[in-house]
Amino acid sequence: MQQIGKLTVITGPMYSGKTTELLNFAEIYELGRKKIKIFKPQIDVRYSADDVVTHKLFKMPATVVKNLDEMETIYKNLDEKPDAIFIDEVHFFENDITYLVKDMTADGVDVYCAGLDLNYLWQPFPTTASLMALADEVIKKKAVCEICGEYTGTLSYKKKIDGGIIDVGGKEKYIAVCKDCYKKLVDEEVRT
Ligand code: ADP
Ligand code: TMP
Ligand code: MG
Ligand code: ZN
Repeated sequence: MQQIGKLTVITGPMYSGKTTELLNFAEIYELGRKKIKIFKPQIDVRYSADDVVTHKLFKMPATVVKNLDEMETIYKNLDEKPDAIFIDEVHFFENDITYLVKDMTADGVDVYCAGLDLNYLWQPFPTTASLMALADEVIKKKAVCEICGEYTGTLSYKKKIDGGIIDVGGKEKYIAVCKDCYKKLVDEEVRT
């Protein structure tokens, strides 16, 4: 009987090491001579158009997809199912990714998803939230708060409020902060 694959969700604020953790797992499968496939959404062009890249610039080649439909088509047409699939920046995908991920695990594939739990307004990203509900394991990462320096950063603060909820960027736009510092920054915004 075929075993159902395991779903792991790696989440947390920006710079908390989500992509690093995702690629660490990918490397473990590769070292074990397992077959893997890495996906990332086309919208994320920060460091490279066709690799998954961490903020420390460690990278692994990825299959770049325009949207969920494209990922589904590529997955369904694979000659041989991989042992594990790794999807970065899941918060950028539609909520229906949950159906595809369930299909993947039903095929016996282990699935690892990395993405933001919360947007810069401290509101959940629905896709990550749904995947967290389905997950066998959720790994919540923390960042160093860029204001107080403590290792308690759970939020991403946007320095300049322009663009929408979906707005690709790095340190020029976002910093990782703890909740207390987030509140102080937002209070300052209101005063100025
Ligand atoms: P994520 O995908 O969660 O944004 P990455 O795995 O790409 O994170 O990058 C994590 C790396 O980011 C860390 O190893 C560290 O070198 C760097 N970094 C930059 N700012 C911070 C921060 N505030 N807290 C922790 N790591 C940070
Ligand atoms: P990261 O977690 O790997 O650093 O990447 C997060 C990406 O998501 C980055 O391109 C910025 C983007 N983003 C949004 O689109 N909206 C948000 O509210 C936040 C916090 C980040
Ligand atoms: Mg990342
Ligand atoms: Zn802080």
